[in-house]
Amino acid sequence: MARSHPEQISPTAHYTGYVWFAHGQSHEAFATTTGRRMYQALRVANLAAQTVRLPTLDGMLLARHRLIDLRLTEAIETGEVEQVVEVAAGLSPRGWRFARRYGDRLTYVEADLPGMLANKRRILAELGGESPHHRTAEVDALTDAGPTSIEAICATLDPSKGTAIITEGLINYFDRATVIGIWARFARALARFPTGLYLSDVNTRDGNAGALVAAFSWLLSAFVRGKVHIHFDSADEAEAALAQAGLLGMLLDPRDLAEQLPGLELAGAGHVRVIEALAKKGS
Ligand SMILES: C[S@@+](CC[C@H](N)C(=O)[O-])C[C@H]1O[C@@H](n2cnc3c(N)ncnc32)[C@H](O)[C@@H]1O
Repeated sequence: MARSHPEQISPTAHYTGYVWFAHGQSHEAFATTTGRRMYQALRVANLAAQTVRLPTLDGMLLARHRLIDLRLTEAIETGEVEQVVEVAAGLSPRGWRFARRYGDRLTYVEADLPGMLANKRRILAELGGESPHHRTAEVDALTDAGPTSIEAICATLDPSKGTAIITEGLINYFDRATVIGIWARFARALARFPTGLYLSDVNTRDGNAGALVAAFSWLLSAFVRGKVHIHFDSADEAEAALAQAGLLGMLLDPRDLAEQLPGLELAGAGHVRVIEALAKKGS
């Protein structure tokens, strides 16, 4: 199946939105009733795993979220990135946090399918509203052209400024060919900027081997009532696929950056990698 239906994927955005809130990364406006119910349903499993030092879903999610934050912060602080498009932003508070921190030094566009975007727009309105430096846009990561394409969103940005595209919790829901198509679209859209950075979480098979994974995948799949894809055996294989799509970079293991991510749950962090890649010029 090339395409997961948004109504299958979207409940997970409520869950992760609540995880960011429960761990002090967010504002209560992003915490929905659906998210709280899902979080409470899994709380016992998470606590049990934590007690015996098994990987927790929260540990994995926080590792990816904080590592993306870390690398994005570095790219902004060095001046490489001044514009961000977060595709499939869901109920993530990242756009709000970065917009508060950087003000008019940064332009942040939060993009999603229309149903989820309506939630985000309502929440941002509660928190003071959108601005030219922090706004929302409808996107469909699977569309090549037209107003909801990544191409059209990037065309509204300043071509003289370094730009990042972020996806978090999106690509696992699509098969490999679809993911490579998404990446190629991002590479083309980013090629116009002096720096075109792509940051995303990804799961590889070698980061998810062994008996524990069955329980872990079950949790993930239970949310989406469908298959969660692991596309690549190893970091090397993922990097080759990224390069094929026009994105040159590497997979980061959050455990290698544990010093910069205090309090990281190593067991959970081991299950996820973060892509840091630059769009090839002329993609
Ligand atoms: C698991 S949630 C992740 C939300 C957020 N990034 C986070 O980590 O909390 C997946 C998100 O992908 C969005 N999504 C699903 N299909 C999409 C598509 N074709 N284009 C853009 N977004 C999509 C859903 O609406 C949902 O908000």
